[in-house]
Amino acid sequence: MKTLSYFHYVWCFTSFVVAYPGMGDTMEHVRRSAKAARADSKQLIGDLKTLKDAQLTAIGKDIKAIILDQKTAISTVIDAGAPAGTPDSAACKADLCCVWKWISYDMTARFNGTSGRCTKFARGAVRLGFHDAAVWSNTTSYGGADGSILLTDEISRADNSGLATIADQMKQWYTKYNKYGVSMADLIQMGANIATVVCPLGPRIRSFVGRKDNAKAGPTGLLPGVNDSADKLIKLFQAKTIDPHDLVALVGAHTTSQQHFVDTARDGDPQDSTPGVWDVAFYGETVSTTPPRVFKFASDLALSKDSRAKSEWQAFIGGQAHWNEDYAKAYTRLSLLGVNNINDLKECTKVLPPPRTSFVNQDQKILDLWLQGQYDQLNSMVDDAIMLTGLTST
Ligand code: HEM
Repeated sequence: MKTLSYFHYVWCFTSFVVAYPGMGDTMEHVRRSAKAARADSKQLIGDLKTLKDAQLTAIGKDIKAIILDQKTAISTVIDAGAPAGTPDSAACKADLCCVWKWISYDMTARFNGTSGRCTKFARGAVRLGFHDAAVWSNTTSYGGADGSILLTDEISRADNSGLATIADQMKQWYTKYNKYGVSMADLIQMGANIATVVCPLGPRIRSFVGRKDNAKAGPTGLLPGVNDSADKLIKLFQAKTIDPHDLVALVGAHTTSQQHFVDTARDGDPQDSTPGVWDVAFYGETVSTTPPRVFKFASDLALSKDSRAKSEWQAFIGGQAHWNEDYAKAYTRLSLLGVNNINDLKECTKVLPPPRTSFVNQDQKILDLWLQGQYDQLNSMVDDAIMLTGLTST
């Protein structure tokens, strides 16, 4: 141990002595150049492709800067006050975000588990947001974040196995709130963002509304398969304007996940040892030895090893703030695929609940036993496992 510390010290010292006066500036220059290069390689989407800067609204400018990697997509603006009135009141109707505040209350209650982790509804909402928006590519003339996953029979496609529970819940919210002008497309994307911040450590992503619904089912063959090669996945997402870096950030959502259909004999097995927590454990655990119940997707393993994705994968290990930042930007882009009125969107981020920037599983002992293969009943009860802390090891 002492020897390791010594070498660590020597390594740090060596790293330090190769520095020279002005190097900080040079490094900053390199970092800025790299960022500028990345911004150049980022593609614009929807109406932002054709509108000139002078034509952009304040929201249009912000979204453009976010998707060009020039501005953060994380917001700290919180409206802690009560809504102006009930959704059917004149006061509430006069305030665009008022109805969204009520929706946020409903969703937050559904997405927060008694354990403090986020629930299967939250995880489903994040995946639903992805599956509605990602049915789009730069060669299709329709599809994207348009609500069609729930307004048509898209949901019954094999790609969407596992989304039935959140689909039913989302349709109930749509019935309740559509009469106040809420589109399915917005409901789904707001659901994904509320779910993300309800998950402990999740980013509070800027949230825009005003997407248009589409009653036409999206094109088929545009969602990834769990057994696809890294090359196929990277090309599939590139055609959605999502580069390998952003793809690596997005699949990190599997940090919260529990699979049900990839291997039905292992229904409920998580993709890292902390399901329901928006931490970076997923990145490290995908590339290392894990407890037996952790179920790694072939697609995640393939990406973690691919030369175009590997360095970012490694960078997210232990890089919670870095990942949150990159995920928020990448998800903002994803949530706007196929949207052709980005410049007219409005912002209701303030209705999102506050983020939880630290979290400790109070029931880690029982989770550890579960991860080793005991207590199968937790497969469907991780959200509330804390209730079982009275159990003792067998
Ligand atoms: C390489 C691309 C991807 C593949 C192949 C993939 C595949 C899958 C599969 C097979 C499941 C398990 C479904 C089940 O058995 O119940 C799953 C779950 C999930 N995926 Fe992905 N996914 C990908 C990308 C993404 C992205 C980009 C997001 C979000 C931005 C996402 C979010 C989720 C979430 C939150 C779950 C958990 C759902 C739950 O616990 O019910 N995935 N994914």
